[in-house]
Formats: sequence, C-alpha cells, structure tokens
Amino acid sequence: MWWSLEGLAARKRVAARLRFFCDRSLFVTAWHDTECTLDAVSAALAVSGLVKRYGAVEALGGVDLEVRESELVGLLGPNGAGKSTLVKIACGLVRPTTGRAEVCGARAGSREARAALGYLAELFRFPGWMTADELLELHQRLAASHGGERERVDLLELVGLQDARRRPVEAMSKGMQQRLGIAQALVGSPRLLLLDEPTSALDPVGRRTVRTLLEELQRRGVSVLLNSHLLSEIELVCDRVVILLGGRVVAAGTPSELARPRGVEIETNEGKRTFPEAERDDIPRLVGELVRDGKSVYGARLLTSTLEDVYVEAVSGETS
Ligand SMILES: Nc1ncnc2c1ncn2[C@@H]1O[C@H](COP(=O)(O)OP(=O)(O)O)[C@@H](O)[C@H]1O
Ligand SMILES: [Mg+2]
Repeated sequence: MWWSLEGLAARKRVAARLRFFCDRSLFVTAWHDTECTLDAVSAALAVSGLVKRYGAVEALGGVDLEVRESELVGLLGPNGAGKSTLVKIACGLVRPTTGRAEVCGARAGSREARAALGYLAELFRFPGWMTADELLELHQRLAASHGGERERVDLLELVGLQDARRRPVEAMSKGMQQRLGIAQALVGSPRLLLLDEPTSALDPVGRRTVRTLLEELQRRGVSVLLNSHLLSEIELVCDRVVILLGGRVVAAGTPSELARPRGVEIETNEGKRTFPEAERDDIPRLVGELVRDGKSVYGARLLTSTLEDVYVEAVSGETS
C-alpha cells in the first residue's frame, strides 16, 4: 500500500516541491515539466461514457467523471439521479451496460481495483453485537490488511471513537455508527474512498467532525468521492463538484467556478437596489450616477450565486 510511512513522506516531499515551484515564476518551466510527469499518473477514479440500464430505467446515460490524486470530489443530485449506481459500479458491485470505469488504472471490480478503494454504502448496517474493535478486525481480515491493533487504534482515533473501542454497535448513536463506517472504509489504507451520503444521519457537530476528518484525509493524499445532498458540506470541503440529473452530468467545476456573478446591489437612503447586469467595474459609475441624482449611498455589494443557487438551477426544481 502506498499509504505507508515511506510512501507518505515521499509524496509530501513532492507536494512541498510543487508548492515551492508554483510560488516562484523563475521555476515555471520546472513546474510544467513536473506537472506533465504527474499527469501520467492514473487518476484515482476515471469514468467515461458510463451507461447503466436497469430494464427500461436508464440510471446513467453516459457519464464522464474523474477523481484525481488527493482530490475531494462532491457528487450532488436529487434522489434517483444515479449517484449510488455510479459508486456501486466503481466498487464492482454493479456492472455497467456500456462505458469504462477504472480505479487507479485498474478495471473497476478487478482485484487490484477493489484493493485500492474503501467504500461506505448509503444504507449500511453492522451487526449490533459487534464492538467497534471487532468490526474493524473483521474488515481487516476481509481486506487482507496486516495493520493489526495499531491500525484499528489509529482509525478509531481518526474518527473520534477512541473511547468507544469496546462498545457494541447497538449501543452507539447513529452518528457514531456512521463514523465507525468511515473508519471501516479506511481499513487497509485505500487510495480512493467512496462515501455514499456519509453525513445524512449526523447532527451539526457530527458533520463538522466528518469535515475535519475529510480535510485530514486530503492531507494524507487520499482521494475521495463524496455523494451528498448537503450542499453546504460539499461547498466547504470539496475541490470539485459534479451535479448529476437523470443519469447525466449537468454541471461540474470548482465551487468558485460554478458560482457565477449575479449583478450588483447598492444600498441608498431609498433602500437596496439591484442591478442584475452590472459587474464589479460598473460600481463606481453606478454610485456616481446615484449620487448625482441626489441619493445617499451607504454601500455596494457584488452578488454571486451560491452552490445552492447553481444546484437548484441545474436540477430546475426537481426535489431531492
Ligand atoms: N437494482 C436496481 N434495479 C432497478 N432500478 C434501479 C436499481 N438501482 C437503482 N435503480 C434506479 O436507477 C435510478 C438511479 O438510482 P440511484 O443510483 O440509487 O440514484 P441516487 O443514488 O442518485 O438516488 C433510479 O431511477 C433507481 O430507481
Ligand atoms: Mg443514493
């Protein structure tokens, strides 16, 4: 597994060098050279032209999607959009009708692909009588992990369950079970983590714990595909967002790329006025005109769409 200490140290060194080059224009050629080399590395997940039909139902209608190394990609969409189908294909649990899905360069479902990923299903249920430690031990055997007790202790600490090691699943809150589910998915140090609605049962504090955990995983170089309907969560943690609707990608990009300008709002003594077509450069002129008209101007604000606006627009009113 590359997520060994040596592997991690080497990757951190490369990342530090890249950041160093990136900050200095003198090294721009070196940066491009290095970037080209990195491009040759297989994406953690690469899906192209993916189609899945269940009889007459087309769950996926030709999806292209990539999760690169150390990238956290959020997959958004209303119920029935095809999110879980895509994740199940990546795990090898569902066969695509046509198209290609690869995990770290290996065909989805192959032994190599399965060894490289960790998965938390949307509706999981662990045996109630098993303790957290026993559950992780079972998954270590299933994943042929040799991490032993050290790995189990580390994973429980990572998800904030260090004090619940001997507690049976049935005595845990839903939030604790969900965090245990994430620890289970991390057994064997996978390069790609597939999480299907991992925060759905969590309260705000639990969600924040998962968010911190995702940030930590990103630092460790794990790639994550996160299915969620919680837009704010996605906006806060994801590098990129892909919005699915009816089995097709309807929008994709970084949260800031997706948030488009929505005009300018100016507050005067007569209240707030919106200029939907205006841009940042129009603000001095608009303020000048309002002042010439005898208005008192108290403030001007550039309006941008939130991820929620983009999502609602992309799925055009479909319920989630
Ligand atoms: N095993 C199955 N048999 C038949 N239809 C299915 C099956 N699994 C999913 N579907 C259908 O495929 C579509 C996409 O489902 P799913 O991938 O679960 O969406 P999401 O996770 O975005 O809610 C839905 O119309 C769903 O009813
Ligand atoms: Mg689903």
